[in-house]
This record gives sequence, structure tokens and C-alpha cells, in this order.
Amino acid sequence: MTQLDDVKSRLDIVEVVGGYVQLQRSGSSFKANCPFHQERTPSFFVFPDRQSWRCFGACAEGGDAFSFVMKHDRLDFREALVQLGARVGVTITDQAETGGRSRVLFEINDAARQFFQRVLGEPEATFVREYLSGRGINDRSLQTFEFGYSPARDNRLLAFLTTAGYSAEDIAEAGLARQTDDGRFYDLFRGRLMIPIRDWSARVAGFGSRALDDNATPKYLNTPRTPVFDKSRILYAMHLAKEPVRQHGAVIVEGYMDAVMAHQHGFDNVVASMGTALTEHQVALVRRLTHRVTMALDGDPAGRNATLRSLESSWGVFQQRDQRSANQGATSVLQQPEALDLRVAELPSGKDPDDYIRQSPGAWIEFVEAAAPLFDYLLAALSERVDVTNADGRSWAAQTMLRFVAHVPDPIKRDFYLDALSAHFGVDVATLRAAMPTAARAEAPARRSNRAAATADEATPLPGREGNATEELVLKILLQHSEQIGQDAIESVRPEWFSRTENQEILRHVFSLMEPDANDERSVAAGLEQHLDQLLNSDPVLATQAKVESAWKQACLRLQREHSINQISQLASAMADEDLMDPDSAVANLWLDSKNSLREIDLLRQTTSPHHK
Ligand code: UTP
Ligand code: MN
Repeated sequence: MTQLDDVKSRLDIVEVVGGYVQLQRSGSSFKANCPFHQERTPSFFVFPDRQSWRCFGACAEGGDAFSFVMKHDRLDFREALVQLGARVGVTITDQAETGGRSRVLFEINDAARQFFQRVLGEPEATFVREYLSGRGINDRSLQTFEFGYSPARDNRLLAFLTTAGYSAEDIAEAGLARQTDDGRFYDLFRGRLMIPIRDWSARVAGFGSRALDDNATPKYLNTPRTPVFDKSRILYAMHLAKEPVRQHGAVIVEGYMDAVMAHQHGFDNVVASMGTALTEHQVALVRRLTHRVTMALDGDPAGRNATLRSLESSWGVFQQRDQRSANQGATSVLQQPEALDLRVAELPSGKDPDDYIRQSPGAWIEFVEAAAPLFDYLLAALSERVDVTNADGRSWAAQTMLRFVAHVPDPIKRDFYLDALSAHFGVDVATLRAAMPTAARAEAPARRSNRAAATADEATPLPGREGNATEELVLKILLQHSEQIGQDAIESVRPEWFSRTENQEILRHVFSLMEPDANDERSVAAGLEQHLDQLLNSDPVLATQAKVESAWKQACLRLQREHSINQISQLASAMADEDLMDPDSAVANLWLDSKNSLREIDLLRQTTSPHHK
């Protein structure tokens, strides 16, 4: 999460504004004499539900906590971020600097990748190339997956990288070197097959490495956690699999070699979780592209329970998220409205996808298609493991499944699962419902708010505090496809359509880049580097011109619509205040204007909708 998100998730606009002006309650909102112009009757409102403010009087402006502080104290964005950060106990570090550090680490990793690849071609690595071809890996995969070899002796990587100008400290921070107690540095990876791991944006974030001697341990040694590498947030081969995953859904395997062999046979929607139980962060990555996720498990029960528990928990997390976005009607044109469809397929005992595909590539698709929904898989797996003909066994299995059902926030879906369990175990639905762990049912939200306090990382933002999906979608398309959209269309976007200061600032940044004397060196407002980086590096990546155009139009109209609705609802709150009730008032006129423009937007949306016939 960015520092900005961290600060926003802890801020309350009523407290912020209340620190400057005396607020009075007015229905569900608060009002005050506008601090930005002279007035006798209050026309300045603060709306806690939307975390926004607006003056309906002479200055006719509005925004969020950031714009309020910027305007009131005449600060730039970065200064406001520091000030508000201090208020909620978040220290704002220099992002340009951290951004710069990451860049160095990615650079070092990429230089190391090239080095390892070159060494693989040298005579000392002949046995490694033989090992690879012995495993059935062809030259094309060798190139695609950028395999390499780390020399066994002499710290040659360190020598190479320091000669290239990198410091030993930086090389160690990238996870490629270690330091002995007496301060000397040495190569971490020695005499191993090197497997570069690229992140979502295809940057080399770290390495997997395999021992080449079957007795050596560990078999696989990975880059330790670094500022740019966290195994639990990366899926191996994701950078190659985006478009196929979008088209065919994702298949997640456990090992590097499994993913390589799948791609070699044309199954390029396969990514690898790298051995650890699939995390919700990894599910979130594929969820950007698809709702269909199939986990292909090795036919080897070691570690199976951990895998199932983590699948259950990821599934639970996404049930909650999907429900929340359905409630908010926040499915943007590009988000999948469907709930996560998580399935499990299990290979025959003793086989992993690598073995299986090499042996019978033709059977792979069928194997994936035969995957069972997680619920069915768990039910079958449980029933296999315990004796459900005896009362204890049956009760235990039913309880376990009820814990799973308790994750489901949608009562209709929950009933569907309860019916299935009732049929399976021959127990009344009412009995099952009564036995459903209430703690678990209440657990999900409670756990989220605890976490919010603890880390603020996974916090469920309060309404109005999480990133605005539509605003960010417009900016993502704008930033990633500006050439296809064209300057005129971009310039027709108005900053006031954005309710969030950070998004307005990004738009201004884009405008400034379009000025005739602009160069690429012009940087975004300080404090927004991470936000910009996220917008630049996340989906959507739209393939065709037609797709860009229609997505862009839809997203802009949606943005305008939300802006209008936002205004109307702010007006509605203000009009509930009798001091502003005069039908000839500016507020009443604004109300009519907003209603009219909403009607126009809706007409336009109907005629430009891709579903319009
Ligand atoms: P496996 O042991 O199933 O590996 O671990 P594999 O891919 O089939 O390996 P080969 O075929 O023997 O070469 C699955 C994954 O778990 C991670 C790796 O990502 C591996 O690909 N792993 C495994 C580790 O990180 N460390 C280990 O010691 C073992
Ligand atoms: Mn294997």
C-alpha cells in the first residue's frame, strides 16, 4: 500500500476540517461558515459518508481532506501529505528516493540475469545445458524463461556487478550477495541453475535457483525477501501469461518447472505459486484479469492441508470482496462482475504437472476442465479422509464445511451451500444453520478491522476512503494508452470530475506533460510517485484500438455520472437544511442543473454502451 493510501485510510474529514472551523451538525452532514469567503449564513458543508466538503456559496468549491488542507494552509500536495500524515502517525518518507532505490535493485537483478544467462553458454556449464535438455526443456523455453547458471567459485557475480559500478551493499540488498561476520561479501547463488522471476510489470525482481546435484540442499533456493521481491506477492510466469489468462482463466501450478513445461506445450495461461500455499495476494493478481482460477495440485499429499487451508482462506477473502463490490455497484466496465470461481484439480499420485504434461500433453486441457469447485473438492476430500458413517466423523466433517460456508456473506449463496451439505450429510438445513460457527460468521469483518488497526495494510476502507475505482480506471487508460486516445479527448477531461485530490493531481501531471515545451523529465507532484507508479503498472492493458476507445468512452461517462451523482447527493444533504431551502437559491438552481446533466450523461451512456443494439 502506498503511504498516501495509508494516510487516507486513517483520516476522517470531520476531524480534519473540525480542527479549523466550528462545525455544526445538519442532518447527516456538518455545516459551518465557509472558511474561504466571508459569509453570515453557513453554506460550507462536510459530508462524512463521502469524506468530502463543498461550499455552496460564493466560492462554489469542494473536495476531500487533502484539498481542504492544501487550500486552507496554502500547501502543495506533498506538504499536505506530510502534515496529514503527522496527524495520523504516518511518517512520510521520500518516495523519489525509495523509488530510486527500487530502480537500482531491479537494474542489479537484470544485470545478474544477463550474467547468469551468459555463463550458461560457457563450457563450464555444459552439464547444466545437458541437465535441462534431459528434462525435456527445449531451446525456445531456455530463451523464454531466461535460464542461467551461477558459477560455483570465485564470487564471479559480485566481481561482475561491482565492475559494472554497483556497490556490494546494493548487491546484497538485491539478495544476490551475503556478508560474512568479518564484513566480506560473497555470492549467494553458487553452482545453481538460475531462474529469473519477473514481476507483474516484467521487471526482474528476484531468482529461483535449483541445485544440480540431487543430494544438495536446499533443492530450491530463492532470493530472500527484498524491497522488490516478496515471494508471496508474485506469481511465476505471470508476465507471460496475462493475455492468455484473460482469455482462458488462470491455472496455478506449484513449481517453476511445471509452469515452464506447460508453456512449452502451449498452455500459456499457467503460472506458478512457487511452492508456498497460494496467498490471497497471489489470487488478487490473477483476479485482476479473470474470475476463473484453477489450482492444479501435485498428486502428492505432503503439505496438502496447508494448501487447502490457504485456498479456503483466499476464497473467503474474495467472497467478501466480491460481495462488497456488488453492494457498491462498483463493477467498472473492465472489472469482472462475476464472483471468484476457484477450482481444484488434483494430479494422479506421485505426479506433478511437469511429469504429467511431458507424458500426456493432450490430456492437460481435459484435466484442467475436470477441476471441481473448491466447495465440492473440499467436501469430497473430507469425506474420503473421515468415516462419515460414524457420528463423530460426520460431525467433524460437517463442522469443517460449515466453517467454509460461514465465509459466504451472500445469504442466498450460503443457503445454496447449506442445502448441498444437508443432502450430503443427511442433516436438516436448520440444524446445520444452527451449528454454523457464529464466531466464524462474524470473524471476517472483525478480523479485518483488527488488521486495519494493526497494519492498515489489508484494512477494509470506510466508504469514501478507499481508492475510487472509476477515477483510477480513467487515469490508467489515460496513462497507458494516451497515444490511442489522442490529445483532444484527453484535454476534454475536467479535473473537477475527480473527487480525490491525488487523482486531480495526476491529471494535472498528464496535462503538464502535453504542454509544448514539456519533456519526460517533468515529474509528478512529490508524494504521488507511488500512486502514479501503481496506475502505470496495473491493468488494464487493452489490446486493440477499438477496445481502448470504447473502454475510454465508457469510463469517462461513468466518471461524469459519479461526479453528478456525488453533487446531487451533496446538494440533497444541503437542501435538507432549512436555511438553504429557498427555491430560488443558488443551491436549488445547482440541483436542477445537476439533475439535467445526469439525464444527459445517462442518455449518452445508453447510446455508446457496447451492449446497445
Ligand atoms: P517441488 O519440489 O514440487 O519442485 O516444489 P518441482 O518444481 O517439481 O521441482 P523439480 O521438478 O524437482 O525440479 C515446487 C516448488 O516449490 C518451491 C519451488 O518454487 C518449486 O518449484 N520450492 C521447493 C522451494 O522454494 N524450495 C524448495 O526447497 C523446494
Ligand atoms: Mn517436478
